[in-house]
Amino acid sequence: MPHPPAPRRDRRVTVTDLGKAMEQGRPITMATAYDWPTGRLVDAAGIDCVLVGDSVAMVVAGHDSTIPATLDQMVYHGEIVARACQRSLVVVDLPFPLQHLGNLRAIEASARLLKETGCQAVKLEGTAGQAEVIAGIVAAGIPVMGHVGLRPQAVHQFGGYRMQRDRDQLFRDAESAAEAGAFAVVLECVPAAIAAEITEALPIPTIGIGAGPSCRGQVLVFHDLVGLSQGRVPRFVRTYASAGTLIAEALAQWRDDVEARRFPGPDETLG
Ligand code: KIV
Repeated sequence: MPHPPAPRRDRRVTVTDLGKAMEQGRPITMATAYDWPTGRLVDAAGIDCVLVGDSVAMVVAGHDSTIPATLDQMVYHGEIVARACQRSLVVVDLPFPLQHLGNLRAIEASARLLKETGCQAVKLEGTAGQAEVIAGIVAAGIPVMGHVGLRPQAVHQFGGYRMQRDRDQLFRDAESAAEAGAFAVVLECVPAAIAAEITEALPIPTIGIGAGPSCRGQVLVFHDLVGLSQGRVPRFVRTYASAGTLIAEALAQWRDDVEARRFPGPDETLG
């Protein structure tokens, strides 16, 4: 299938560009990246935002939730990805439980992410209860992306990775993130009809994952998108490549070649 050329950009995407995209009705794209090669690939594909998600704890480190991700780990991965990206807006997740420890701790942690990684914004999961924290970080000059609906850091409270259907709470959480100054808000695992209503009501872009087609933008986890994830992927994912199968085949072929003494051949032999 032919791929459209990456959008031509002569500078980095900014949070204001996302607001303009919403006004112009242009869908916003965001994908995760956790290291140099994935950061380069996402950036080069012309994707608007690169998210260094705390999903790194699951996707890269093999944990069964995002809870183990630490601030030091987010700084480590964030710095690598931000260095790899020249055009995409780089957003780094504030790991659990920093947004629950008061304004000062959250501002300190967000400032550390901004200073030590070179990212342009932070994302934090929260309900209306975290509005004051968002406002504090924004007042410090740090752009914040909210994250409502299924908040994976609260998986144990939700009793699993479940669709969130409480319309009033979803509205309250998304609206309070916008009122607190967030520049965009992720809606995760929200019924499409509710996501559409919230999207219509909010003055900032909604970025959906498992939230239907009406959101102003879409986000997916890199490894899900390219077929590198281990285990079951959620139904809302579309997998565009079978990178895992390709890699497994390449490894098996190389192992066979070594075992049959076909590798290294004359071309790979020096001297
Ligand atoms: O950590 C992450 O990858 C995320 C996305 C799923 C939105 O928060």
